[in-house]
Amino acid sequence: MTEARVADDHARRRESFESSRPFPLDAFQRRALDAIDRGQSVLVAAPTGSGKTVVAEYAIANALEDGGKAFYTTPLKALSNQKFGDLSREHGTRRVGLLTGDNSINGNAPVVVMTTEVLRNMIYARSSTLEDLRFVILDEVHYLQDPYRGAVWEEVIIHLPPDVRVVCLSATVSNAEEFAAWVETVRGETAAVIEERRPVRLEHLYMVGERSSDQVHLLPTFVERDGEARPNPEAARATGKLDPTPKRRASTRAVGGRRAGAGARAAGSGPRGASRSSRSSRSGACCRRSRSCSAAPGAIKRSSSACPAGSG
Ligand SMILES: Nc1ncnc2c1ncn2[C@@H]1O[C@H](COP(=O)(O)OP(=O)(O)OP(=O)(O)O)[C@@H](O)[C@H]1O
Ligand SMILES: [Mg+2]
Repeated sequence: MTEARVADDHARRRESFESSRPFPLDAFQRRALDAIDRGQSVLVAAPTGSGKTVVAEYAIANALEDGGKAFYTTPLKALSNQKFGDLSREHGTRRVGLLTGDNSINGNAPVVVMTTEVLRNMIYARSSTLEDLRFVILDEVHYLQDPYRGAVWEEVIIHLPPDVRVVCLSATVSNAEEFAAWVETVRGETAAVIEERRPVRLEHLYMVGERSSDQVHLLPTFVERDGEARPNPEAARATGKLDPTPKRRASTRAVGGRRAGAGARAAGSGPRGASRSSRSSRSGACCRRSRSCSAAPGAIKRSSSACPAGSG
């Protein structure tokens, strides 16, 4: 194919991808897609719930259009299961596989979701499954800083076949430029796409579950009194008085159907204040967003011989 035809083909792919999303892309998403179009690897550092997955989806779409494969890696089985469901819905169950400690489904599919350790093991075993691999998505790539598991991410980034491009996604890498510069030393040209603005307003909620049934209730963690945000006394009552062994954890989620408007609540929230009538209850975080809500963003600091980002 001539250069002009390749460029046309890429423009067509991009247009068809963007027009198949149910929303117009954000500027940071377009910058990341531009990097993929230029043939680069990319690190996307953007707040939680800002839409980093779109970049992974574009890489996957490109791999499939080229007749190749893409692997989506996550550090958690639960997240792998969720991504497997999402990608199966988008590409059909025959084209998507799942490989975790618990599940081995359709491992030779062109799109396979797996825990990062599974990919590391495939690399060391020189698995034939790696043939035709075009992209590896490393979701939650800040796990590289984990003292016990971090080396797995480092080994994957270093030892993947040279023509495989990586898409690294994280909400909590603060030294993103430095990290991308290191990725570039081992994988070739790598763009750092950094978005600090939070495009989705997050609302702090407290989940209380009834012991006697499967019902859960979401209460606002804070209420406003005299112009100040104070812990919601309703939540304290529900967990302190009614539950003899409360586990207090706040939860945060995106609201307003994303850019649909500040102040709107996400659809499907539980009846507010309903736990008032609960005679007995248990409590806990309702979604994984609590991780990014409570943890301050930190640099990748795992001490490492190979990654200069690790010394930061
Ligand atoms: N440009 C956009 N406009 C509106 N909604 C969007 C846009 N991009 C993504 N979304 C929606 O935002 C929600 C969150 O997106 P996504 O799961 O990709 O966030 P994330 O950045 O990966 O968050 P996390 O750090 O929690 O993994 C999804 O429902 C997605 O469909
Ligand atoms: Mg994500």
